[in-house]
Amino acid sequence: MTILITGGTGKTGLKLAHLLNKAGYPILLTSRKGEVPHPFKGVKFDWLDPSTFTNPFDVDAAIDRVYVVGPVGLLDMLPHVKPFIDLAVTKGVKRFVVLGASPIPKGGPVAGKVHEYLEEIGVDYAVLRATWFMENFSTSFVTSIRVHNEIGSVAKDGRLAFVSVDDIAKAASDALLDEKSWNTDRYILGPELFSYDEVAALLSEVLGRKITHRRLTEDESLFIWTSDARLTVELAKTVIKMEAEIANGAEVAVFESDNKIVGKKHLREFFETNRELWAI
Ligand SMILES: NC(=O)c1ccc[n+]([C@@H]2O[C@H](COP(=O)([O-])OP(=O)(O)OC[C@H]3O[C@@H](n4cnc5c(N)ncnc54)[C@H](OP(=O)(O)O)[C@@H]3O)[C@@H](O)[C@H]2O)c1
Repeated sequence: MTILITGGTGKTGLKLAHLLNKAGYPILLTSRKGEVPHPFKGVKFDWLDPSTFTNPFDVDAAIDRVYVVGPVGLLDMLPHVKPFIDLAVTKGVKRFVVLGASPIPKGGPVAGKVHEYLEEIGVDYAVLRATWFMENFSTSFVTSIRVHNEIGSVAKDGRLAFVSVDDIAKAASDALLDEKSWNTDRYILGPELFSYDEVAALLSEVLGRKITHRRLTEDESLFIWTSDARLTVELAKTVIKMEAEIANGAEVAVFESDNKIVGKKHLREFFETNRELWAI
């Protein structure tokens, strides 16, 4: 048995690789360049280039489980992911674990149609519907925090349970290894609800300087997502709509759902461990 980790150099993929490696499972990581961090074995793979789809199986014919982080930046992953799923099934893959998102149900945008397709073909699967990552504060928000002392959102006073990629990787590991496949989706959340005002107050306390939550209009947010993050207008509007739903209690409802896995890492610990990232 070998577990293929797509997005192997990414936030959740690399954490998952460390967990599975430590537990002694054979793994293979994909990356578009074919280069992955030591001590892992990597293979060149690009969702946008189907000629790379056989590469993992040429390197290791024992792959039977796949962690799927689909192509980033697409409104619908299915056209690129489906041909790989179909091939992987013919090569002996028995289970797929897909990174999805809390606001996106089966059949929805981004990974939603991949979820629907896996259910349709009757293969074992799990979809990890992770909420907003804590790591967004160390990636997409890092410059605005360092340079402008602010975090922008359209979430107003809405609250959500930011989750750490460590906890997502743990859920992915369980979904890949559990004897009985989940064959459903589960929310993957952090342990506490925060509004962005509360996040800004916590980060202010940890950093010892004032960080504020800037309440963006949807037009301001669209400008940021399309210019800084270079999303297409269509995808940016989808992301903004999901973030705006936080203001209407969408993520509190998710937190109150029974279908959830609650991670261990607290936002305070994440901020305290990484405080040098926001130093000025
Ligand atoms: N950020 C959040 O709050 C959040 C919340 C819920 C869900 N998500 C989901 O998390 C997923 C990951 O997002 P992320 O921004 O955190 O990315 P990431 O996992 O840090 O990086 C994406 C990975 O995908 C690989 N990749 C990118 N384009 C590829 C392509 N065309 N073919 C093959 N591999 C490709 C990259 O590797 P190489 O460059 O080495 O190829 C990289 O390892 C997204 O699907 C997003 O919807 C994010």
